[in-house]
Amino acid sequence: MKKILIVNGPNLGLLGKREPTVYGSRSLPEIMAEANERASTLWGMQTETFQNDIEGELVKAIGGAIGVFDGIIINPAAYTHTSVALRDALSATGLPCIEVHLSNTHSREDFRHTSLTAPVCVGQIMGFGTGSYLLAVDAMGRKLGLKEKR
Ligand code: DQA
Repeated sequence: MKKILIVNGPNLGLLGKREPTVYGSRSLPEIMAEANERASTLWGMQTETFQNDIEGELVKAIGGAIGVFDGIIINPAAYTHTSVALRDALSATGLPCIEVHLSNTHSREDFRHTSLTAPVCVGQIMGFGTGSYLLAVDAMGRKLGLKEKR
């Protein structure tokens, strides 16, 4: 069974309370439960989720995926726009990584228009709210050569 790590960066633990007009009203555990459910029922993939606000903890979790997981879905949150360390960590895994954002960062402030992490990912999905995670699950299933169960 293919195993996927879903990584969420800083302030995403506040989803539901944090700027609901931008990020919606659902909590991260709710969003992750939906993504886990889709991965398992539609693709037969096993998922593990991880959230942390600290860059180094995210780097450690990503490095720890080597030899354990078959792919990584990541919302690096604000570190998207700043972190060479996260980019290097994703690249080091050699795993297919998909970058996800709830909001369309291109329609927001200029500093959100650059992603340091996207170039080392196989693709980026953004702007669909919590649906971005579900689209990423589907994209990962296809990337790993799985057949959708429906
Ligand atoms: C975000 C977009 C980032 O610019 C921001 O810093 C976040 C959330 C998103 O999912 O839309 O924390 O990654």
